[in-house]
Amino acid sequence: NAVSKGEYPHYMLKEIFEQSTAIRQTLSPALSNDRLDESCLGDSASTLLDGVKAVQICACGTSYHAGMVGRYLIESLAKIPCGVEHASEFRYRSPVVPANTLFVVLSQSGETADTLAALRYAREAGYHATLAICNVGSSSLVRESDLSFLTQAGPEIGVASTKAFTTQLLALNIVSLFLARRNGLDPQVEADITNTSLKQACFAVDAALALDDKISEVAEQLVDREHSLFLGRGVMYPIALEGALKLKEISYIHAEAYPGGELKHGPLALVDENMPIIAAAPGGKLFAKMQGNLQEVAARGGQLFILTDKPEEFSTSHDCQVLTMPTVDEVLAPLVYTIPLQLLAYHVSVMRGNNVDQPRNLAKSVTVE
Ligand code: G6P
Repeated sequence: NAVSKGEYPHYMLKEIFEQSTAIRQTLSPALSNDRLDESCLGDSASTLLDGVKAVQICACGTSYHAGMVGRYLIESLAKIPCGVEHASEFRYRSPVVPANTLFVVLSQSGETADTLAALRYAREAGYHATLAICNVGSSSLVRESDLSFLTQAGPEIGVASTKAFTTQLLALNIVSLFLARRNGLDPQVEADITNTSLKQACFAVDAALALDDKISEVAEQLVDREHSLFLGRGVMYPIALEGALKLKEISYIHAEAYPGGELKHGPLALVDENMPIIAAAPGGKLFAKMQGNLQEVAARGGQLFILTDKPEEFSTSHDCQVLTMPTVDEVLAPLVYTIPLQLLAYHVSVMRGNNVDQPRNLAKSVTVE
């Protein structure tokens, strides 16, 4: 039965561990003869995508964080402007509709009231075309969009979204490449991303899942805290936000997320020996900047937990613990670094005796505005 917990104590843990399968199952229908095939978005995909000169993304909650990653991917790969906004805010600010803009909604359920209202608003407002990236094929969002990409995460029961999010990130990589093809991306670069990143994503996810025991040890150190700070830069900033959201949702620990460069503009004042700081710091062009930000935090006595594929760049101590991540391409890092943050929130929640799958005050699908 697809919706039993099986050997797992909670749906959330089962769904976290299903992610490499979910990733494989989401990628496979998008491939034809080993190449990404845009007809997976619908029969009119090629015609509609041809005219796209900009993208506007709207979503809620965890799906919104996927949208933030989507903006980085679309702008860096396809070189076209991309906006991203909470669906609950979008239609209340008289948005200007630039010509030839693709309107993208992201949703696990496809029934979130604010996201559906944003889509309906966009259809009236004259967007070039609409695309739903969604986990439920029969949903309102899919039915009412011109194009759709179905994530194949399978049923997600835990209120805190996990596998729906990582499959959305994969979907956004794919859609970014469809747009990038039209904007001068070297076909060899597309082939490299497809073969060495997207097709290998499931293995990197498995490598991240293998950190489970170590994450559980970190969770023990967080369980009695009242506050926490998550840091990331660039495309990892939305992942810091998502890590903080996961922790808030199910552990009820106050968690904030900041881009490392903003620390000095406020949150540094919060840092002392009682503040755990969880940082996503993959190697890459922002690594040295992030390292500098983490030194600022360490100098104020904060307790650091660093996720990185460059452990040799940090000297470890009780106040600076390093979890070694697999090395992946920048386009895949958000997906892979999400895994330990999900596990962290899960373990802290279990240790606090909370209802992991059904946290207080929250619903899986919010069908009222
Ligand atoms: C609720 C859920 C979240 C989810 C959000 C958006 O708040 O608790 O986990 O991210 O809705 O849901 P959607 O189905 O549109 O992705």
